Amino acid sequence: MKFSVLTLFPEQVKHFLSESIIGRAEEKGILSIDAVDIRDFSGNKYGKVDDTLFGGGTGMLMQCEPVYQAFSSLYDAGNEPKPHCIFMSPKGSVLTQEKAKELSKYDHLVILCGHYEGIDQRVLDEIVDEDLSIGDYVLTGGEVAACVVIDCISRMIEGVLPNSEAYEEESHMQGYLEAPQYTKPNVWHDKRVPDVMLSGNHAKIKEWKRIHGLYDTWKRRPDMLSKLNLSPDTWKQMLLIDQEENEK
Ligand code: ADE
Repeated sequence: MKFSVLTLFPEQVKHFLSESIIGRAEEKGILSIDAVDIRDFSGNKYGKVDDTLFGGGTGMLMQCEPVYQAFSSLYDAGNEPKPHCIFMSPKGSVLTQEKAKELSKYDHLVILCGHYEGIDQRVLDEIVDEDLSIGDYVLTGGEVAACVVIDCISRMIEGVLPNSEAYEEESHMQGYLEAPQYTKPNVWHDKRVPDVMLSGNHAKIKEWKRIHGLYDTWKRRPDMLSKLNLSPDTWKQMLLIDQEENEK
């Protein structure tokens, strides 16, 4: 899968994504991540790509043409379809695991990052397919948000993580949070790993994880639980865990 990030700060994006799992996936050729400097398409020797706002207002706005030229440099418009273009913006719909899964199906994603007061609406209307936010707060630019989006999508691509179970079982993938996890030693600071985890009974372990994942979701993110249609028996088991927790 190919990501092209259109930005005024390519080094910021490259630095973040060259490390760890994503960096290794790039080395292996599973991912290709390109950070394109919009300033290279300024059309002037100063690399100026912004100007003051029409209608007043503070700050500077990124101009249409450099953004358009940077986008156009990414594909051969005569022979290739226009790549799917995402604009990182606090006005966009908020990224979810489900959205990331949907975006992971594209072969080529272009991620446009704004800075200053934003980007002239006319070029956004021409090239952008969807606006995406990473949460209800405002960042200084879209670069950090673009890195979050690329990280989240990349780990769903075959070969990036050691096996697909690594992400399919985890928080948010099934609509609820992941259950607590344990490793050696069996006892630490008088705290025991739950017996079922040492039982070797895979069906029981799976059910324990499901119920405890749902229990944690109920306690931490009740908004997520309302979307799941839980059986009376599941609720009964969760209430039992709650009783145990309250007795601790
Ligand atoms: N740019 C500024 N704030 C943002 C946010 N919350 N999400 C995505 N892009 C942004």
